[in-house]
Amino acid sequence: MRYLIANWKMNSVDLDAWEREFINIVSSQNNFPKSDELKLIVCLNLYDYYILSEKIKTSKHEIFNKISLFAQDVSHHDEGAFTGQISSKFLKKAGIEGSIIGHSELRENGDTENIVFEKGLKLKEDALSSIFCIGEDLEILENNKKKSFLLNQLQAFCKKNLSPDLLAYEPIWAIGSGKEADSENIASAVSIILDFFEKKKIDCPILYGGSVSKNNIEEIISIPGIDGCLVGNSSLEGEQFAIIASKIKS
Ligand code: PGA
Repeated sequence: MRYLIANWKMNSVDLDAWEREFINIVSSQNNFPKSDELKLIVCLNLYDYYILSEKIKTSKHEIFNKISLFAQDVSHHDEGAFTGQISSKFLKKAGIEGSIIGHSELRENGDTENIVFEKGLKLKEDALSSIFCIGEDLEILENNKKKSFLLNQLQAFCKKNLSPDLLAYEPIWAIGSGKEADSENIASAVSIILDFFEKKKIDCPILYGGSVSKNNIEEIISIPGIDGCLVGNSSLEGEQFAIIASKIKS
């Protein structure tokens, strides 16, 4: 199984156009991946969620029909005076299947390793799935500290029987920059992560994120150990996202 995740962040997406463009690409290709070969997830805000979930439910196209909807964040609290936050219980009640946690844009805003761990616990308690993001910044990369940095992020999360459902390796310098990591860099991160998972007996697909586009998806997905991608900018238009999906083969 391959995975393709759209992270719409706080961008406005024309949902009618997104669906139309996506379906156009699906319909124009005979060998577009089936839903048992490619898992599609869209991480979006709650307002768009209600509209897109209706479209998904009523769609006649099986691949569109099987898109899962996730949040982009979840609170590490249960309930109470936490203005602006959304608990995993609310996500569950709304029908959302899981959430991204540990995205670098949230880590920059104060999410510590421990908060990310607690968010993971909340999702687990409510039987929701987690997309756990890790990744180094340029300074860490240039100082050859990538391995210890990634291991620290993994160790801080994978404790007390917690493990992610999907892991996204997203080097911070590649996010939104138009400069994807090169294959060698991605492969070295994959080997660090796989080694760690093997020792901990964790079975978890590994995705890459950071400036993924229709131009580089084939190269990225061919890196051994990469099971899919997390896509920001190039997921905002249904056509681009569907073209990327069409190039992912199991
Ligand atoms: P990008 O974003 O594809 O725009 O680089 C990826 C992400 O932040 O998840």
